[in-house]
Amino acid sequence: MSRSDVKLRSAEWFGPDDKNGFMYRSWMKNQGIPDHEFRGKPVIGICNTWSELTPCNAHFRKLAEHVRCGVIEAGGLPVEFPVFSNGESNLRPTAMFTRNLASMDVEEAIRGNPIDAVVLLVGCDKTTPALLMGAASCDVPAIVVTGGPMLNGKHKGRDIGSGTAVWQLSEQVKAGTITLHEFMSAEAGMSRSAGTCNTMGTASTMACMAEALGVSLPHNAAIPAVDSRRYVLAHMSGMRIVDMVWEDLRLSKLLTREAFENAIRANAAIGGSTNAVIHLKAIAGRIGVPLELDDWTRVGRGTPTVVDLQPSGRFLMEEFYYAGGLPAVLRRLGEAGLLPHPGALTANGLSIWDNVREAPIHDEEVIRPLDRPLRADGAISVLRGNLAPLGAVLKPSAATPELLVHRGQAVVFENLEHYKARIVDPDLVVDANSVLVLKHCGPRGYPGMAEVGNMGLPPKLLAQGVTDMVRISDARMSGTAYGTVVLHVAPEASAGGPLAVVHDGDWIELDCHQGRLHLDIPAEELEARLADWRAAHRPDARDRSGYRALYVDHVLQADQGCDFDFLVGCRGAEVPRHSH
Ligand code: FES
Ligand code: MG
Repeated sequence: MSRSDVKLRSAEWFGPDDKNGFMYRSWMKNQGIPDHEFRGKPVIGICNTWSELTPCNAHFRKLAEHVRCGVIEAGGLPVEFPVFSNGESNLRPTAMFTRNLASMDVEEAIRGNPIDAVVLLVGCDKTTPALLMGAASCDVPAIVVTGGPMLNGKHKGRDIGSGTAVWQLSEQVKAGTITLHEFMSAEAGMSRSAGTCNTMGTASTMACMAEALGVSLPHNAAIPAVDSRRYVLAHMSGMRIVDMVWEDLRLSKLLTREAFENAIRANAAIGGSTNAVIHLKAIAGRIGVPLELDDWTRVGRGTPTVVDLQPSGRFLMEEFYYAGGLPAVLRRLGEAGLLPHPGALTANGLSIWDNVREAPIHDEEVIRPLDRPLRADGAISVLRGNLAPLGAVLKPSAATPELLVHRGQAVVFENLEHYKARIVDPDLVVDANSVLVLKHCGPRGYPGMAEVGNMGLPPKLLAQGVTDMVRISDARMSGTAYGTVVLHVAPEASAGGPLAVVHDGDWIELDCHQGRLHLDIPAEELEARLADWRAAHRPDARDRSGYRALYVDHVLQADQGCDFDFLVGCRGAEVPRHSH
């Protein structure tokens, strides 16, 4: 496609010298933009999730400046705009509750404005899928620029990782092995620079997913937030997006089924977050690519986890970047025939394999050789059975191998408050073989499917030295967390899934190798309990107004990516009718 064939969307606003063109240009000129900027230059939206309430993205104004320089250098007109910023650390009941809201904001902002393409400035967990979902529904040219991870946390002379250290230290306080003072002193040391969580949590995972999907430049995932090379990448991305307009390189040419299969393999290799299962499904749904839960096993199976990062392993994102970052991992996969689609196109116009085929690997402790992996099979396990008819997931790389096949008796918590009150009860009937079951924390039930699935162990067992137990819920788990934790049980309890009717003392069987999650009661008994549940179930009155009502009425179950039913699909970026 040559330049003259490309019809700029923005020209529908700024092109005509009539009443409407006057209006669209005149108000923009109050920002000091000269007239020639409106004459045939691609208008590049810089979609910014900057917010002081999203600390992981709080450095984005500087990042946007570098993108802007790149856009100008390549002959585009940059226009920065804010979108809803869902920060993981502050937002209650969970940042996931507003992921779809942010995606709607992004989609409508792109479609309704004189924008030819977008640079998506993302960082904290949900901002990456939200912006990709919104942009995918418009199918405009788009490139992801991630804010980058924080420097390694430091505490008492050693490295500590975001999130992971919180889970570890809080369990140590409960077990009585460290003091509360020691615990508190880690706070400032854990988060000591700009950036996202420095573990392979959800933010780093989604940054790697964007890179593996080919919607960012190589190395976007791992460069630390404060490393000057992050700003060079932002500049280069700004330059590149202008050419993507002239090449009509829209998201649908990058976000193909092949790209998603590459990303699933990459997730196994990096020991990525279970949240990626939900977010990739939601993104795929927006662009119209079929992706099923079982693809995570079908495509991912047999892929070793070679990235030795917390929470599954030892190191942090700084080391990952210095060791070679995601290009080094993809090269390793490709050389072993484990990158299913080396020819998949990426944002720089080259195939993913062309981008990584010569990527250097500088540290084989951090990015291990395939014959010395962290886990031989890093694929996310998809589980099914009468307890999860629509599926559930477990991350084997963060689990205890001996617990991956387990039979134990349920200790049931009806909701998070019940769990908090009951888990500390010294008389709770529980031992290391028990299975902790948490209900009503799914998409509708919480609402928003909070990251509470890695519920802490009973203090009395922690004090005995127990470090892991099988836990089952309809919740999610922070990507920074670990344990033998069955998540995303679908349908969720609040939607009448069988999880709702598990009783204390029921036997539960988990077999990760067979992909099985079974509640060991007779089928008639299960049916009878479900019928009773349906008869007694009353919708929550708090869900009847505001965004919460929209959310609860329309959110899809975890196996469908928790998008809103009415948002699934690509609606394109046809220019809407005039506003006056
Ligand atoms: Fe924002 Fe972890 S809390 S990236
Ligand atoms: Mg998180």
